[in-house]
Amino acid sequence: MRDILAPESSRWRAFTSVFADVVESAGYELIVPPLMEDLGVFSRIGEATDVVTKEMYDFIDKGDRHVALRPEQTASVCRAFVQHRPVTPWKAWYSGPNFRYEKPQRGRYRQFDQVGIEVLGVDDPYLDVEVIALGWEFYRRLGLRQVELRLNSLGEPADRARYVDALRAHFEAAGDDLTPQSRDTLAKNPLRVLDSKRESDARFIESAPTIDQFWSPEAAAHFATVRAGLTELGVPFTIDMKLVRGLDYYRHTTFEFAGGTLDSAQNALGGGGRYDGLVEDLGGPATPGIGFALGVDRTLLACDDEGVFGAPDSAVAVFVVDTAGGAAAMSITAELRSQGVSADRSYENRSMKAQMKAANRSGAEFAVIIGTDELDAGTAIVKPLRTTGDQSTVNRSDLLTDLRSRLQEATS
Ligand code: HAM
Repeated sequence: MRDILAPESSRWRAFTSVFADVVESAGYELIVPPLMEDLGVFSRIGEATDVVTKEMYDFIDKGDRHVALRPEQTASVCRAFVQHRPVTPWKAWYSGPNFRYEKPQRGRYRQFDQVGIEVLGVDDPYLDVEVIALGWEFYRRLGLRQVELRLNSLGEPADRARYVDALRAHFEAAGDDLTPQSRDTLAKNPLRVLDSKRESDARFIESAPTIDQFWSPEAAAHFATVRAGLTELGVPFTIDMKLVRGLDYYRHTTFEFAGGTLDSAQNALGGGGRYDGLVEDLGGPATPGIGFALGVDRTLLACDDEGVFGAPDSAVAVFVVDTAGGAAAMSITAELRSQGVSADRSYENRSMKAQMKAANRSGAEFAVIIGTDELDAGTAIVKPLRTTGDQSTVNRSDLLTDLRSRLQEATS
C-alpha cells in the first residue's frame, strides 16, 4: 500500500474528473459504496477465484460479523441495488480504493483505485456497446492511443457450463503433461487454465475447444449486435476467445482494455462484462447487469509510457511576499482566495531573499510584494514571475482588479 503525493495526486484527481465528465454526460450518477461489506457479498464474486479464496482482507469485527474490505465494487453496487431498488435502468459510476492481498509489483498493489460504471436492469446489446464505447472514449480523452480492446462472449449460463465441461474433458486428457499449477486450476475452474502463460501448457490451450462452438443462437445474436455496434461507432476491437476474466460472475459479453506498452502480467488496464446472475445471487430479482472497472494505477503507467496526461499545473496564481511582519500577507491572501484567485505566502517573517525564492519555487504567475514603505503608503508591488516584464506599484484598493486583468492577459 502506498502514499500518493503531489504531483501524482493531482493527476489522480484530474483522472477522476475526466472520467466523471465522460460518464456523467451519458447519464451515469455517482455511487459511493462502503469500503467494507459483509463477507457474503463478495463470496458471490466466485468461490473458485483467487480474489475470493486467497486475496480477501476479511476479519471478524467487534460485533462478531465476518466482514471484508472490498476487492472490487461491482458486488457492492449490486448489493446496493437489492437494498434500495432504484428505478431501472440504473446507471451508476464510482471511483475509489479496493483491496486485494496480491504480490505487490509494478502495476499491482494491495490497495489500488478503480473508476468504473455499472448498469442494472437492461438486457440490450446496444447497452453493451454504450458501456464499452464509454471506456474507449475515456482512454481517448486521456490521450492514450495504444490501448487494445479485447472482446469475447461467454454465452448464456448453460452455454458457459457446457463449455466448462468440454474444457475439463480436454485438459484432463492432457493428464500429467499439463503443468501441476494448471492441473490445480483445472480442479477448481477449467476456464482459468486458458489464462496460463506457461510454455508447456501452450499447445493444450491452442488445441482447446473455443466458446463460440457453445453459444446458443440468442447468445450468438446478442454478441453479433455488440460487434456490429462497436464497428458502427468506430471502436476497434479484436475477438479473443480465450478471454475469460478473473471473476466468476460473467455471462455474455466480456472485454478487457490492454495497454500496448506494459508487461503482459500487468497490461490489463481495465475490464468488464455482463453479469446477469449477480443481483439474483445477492437475493434480488432476476436483473441483468453490465459494467467495467479501470485501474487508475495501470492506466496512469500507460499514460507515462505514451507520454500523455501529465500532472496538471497546480501552482497558485499569486504569491504574497510580506517583509513588514506578515499581517498584510494574511489579509491579501484571504481576500484573493475569497475572490477566487488562488494565492499562497511565506510564514515566520523570513528575509526578502528567502520569500522571493519561495515565490519563484511556487510557480505563481505574479508576486505581490509588501515592505514597510508599501504598508505605509497603502500600495503593493506586483512583479511577474514567469515572464521578464517590469514590476509596478499599485494601490491596495486596486490590487484585486489589477491582478485579475494581468492574470487574464497572462493566460490568454
Ligand atoms: P478486474 O479485472 O478484477 O475487474 O479489475 C479491473 C482493473 O482493476 C484491472 O484491469 C486492473 O487495471 C485493476 N486492478 C485489479 N487488481 C489490481 C491490483 N492489485 N493493483 C492494481 N490494479 C489492479 C473488476 O474489478 C470488475 N469489478 C470489473 C467489472 C465491473 N466487471 C463488471 N463491472
